[in-house]
Amino acid sequence: MIHTHLCDLLAIDHPILNAPMGGTATATLAAAVSNAGGFGMIGGTSPGGPDWLRSQIRAARAQTNRPFGVGFISSFPNIDDLVQVALDEQVAAINHSFADPTPYVAAARARGIRVFAQVQSLAQAQRAAKAGVDAIIAQGTEAGGHTGTAGTLALLPAVVDSVGGIPVLAAGGVADRRGLAAVLMLGAAGASLGTRFVASDEWGGGDWEQQAVLDATTDDTIRTSLYDQIRGAAFPADIADRVLRNRFNTAWNGRTTAITEQRADLQRQLEAGAKALDKEVVDISAGLAAGLIRSQEPAGLIVQRIVAEAEQVLQRSATLLRSG
Ligand SMILES: Cc1cc2nc3c(=O)[nH]c(=O)nc-3n(C[C@H](O)[C@H](O)[C@H](O)COP(=O)(O)O)c2cc1C
Repeated sequence: MIHTHLCDLLAIDHPILNAPMGGTATATLAAAVSNAGGFGMIGGTSPGGPDWLRSQIRAARAQTNRPFGVGFISSFPNIDDLVQVALDEQVAAINHSFADPTPYVAAARARGIRVFAQVQSLAQAQRAAKAGVDAIIAQGTEAGGHTGTAGTLALLPAVVDSVGGIPVLAAGGVADRRGLAAVLMLGAAGASLGTRFVASDEWGGGDWEQQAVLDATTDDTIRTSLYDQIRGAAFPADIADRVLRNRFNTAWNGRTTAITEQRADLQRQLEAGAKALDKEVVDISAGLAAGLIRSQEPAGLIVQRIVAEAEQVLQRSATLLRSG
């Protein structure tokens, strides 16, 4: 069985997290992942606000007696009310993405709650380490959703080398046995998977979005700020959104001035696209790993199969060695 520091830190069997996908990593997904021995995460940044989050945490608790956490897009305004809910409800861990985690560490610590920081650069990883977080998620640009520009293959070991023994998880591009085995070899203590769990029975988005992810190859994503510009979403300047490529984002990607000028009309197009479930318009967050996913399955099965198969990969890797 694969066992890492992360398993001890979080009291889990398998070093796999589902990513805290805002609004779509709900109680049902988090509980399924935790019940399978992984660590379930609720995506806490959702239009539902604090009441929705509280009800999700309580629903997860009703579905599992294993530990689970909540993750936030911490660059968003009014995040403190949401964080307070996670603190009050005493979840096992809180993840902060896209912002300095320093202001959040002491209050969580005081309640025995672990703090994670998802980072996209070495400097951010070092800042998180200095802040005293319990684990760092090094997110490569392969990731679905908002992400930076450094690739997992080089970012991850560089972060591992620079944070003084704090457990580091990989995020971005891990969707099967090979990905998990590879990131463990790069020094990760575990992995946080988003796109793989989009194609799970318990994911909270639409069937049509799941089908689009299943149909996509590794060539079919684009990293764009288009949707954030239209919505005025608060992300740091070097962060953009990896989504499935479509007609709308192919036409508008990078046209910052034109987007600003025509923002009201683009907002209307986006609303109409969302109503019509039009995958040629809306943003379907997915990473390069979409090309590795063949079928939609229960989240628990995904966790258990990836860890069992990664173990075989690691065992077989010894056959690459010759003596003498
Ligand atoms: C549909 C979707 C929604 C996401 N939403 C969030 C979010 O709300 N907060 C966050 O920190 N990361 C979010 N992410 C990024 C994940 O945390 C994670 O880094 C990423 O999914 C890992 O790469 P992978 O998609 O290749 O597994 C999202 C990813 C996806 C696919």
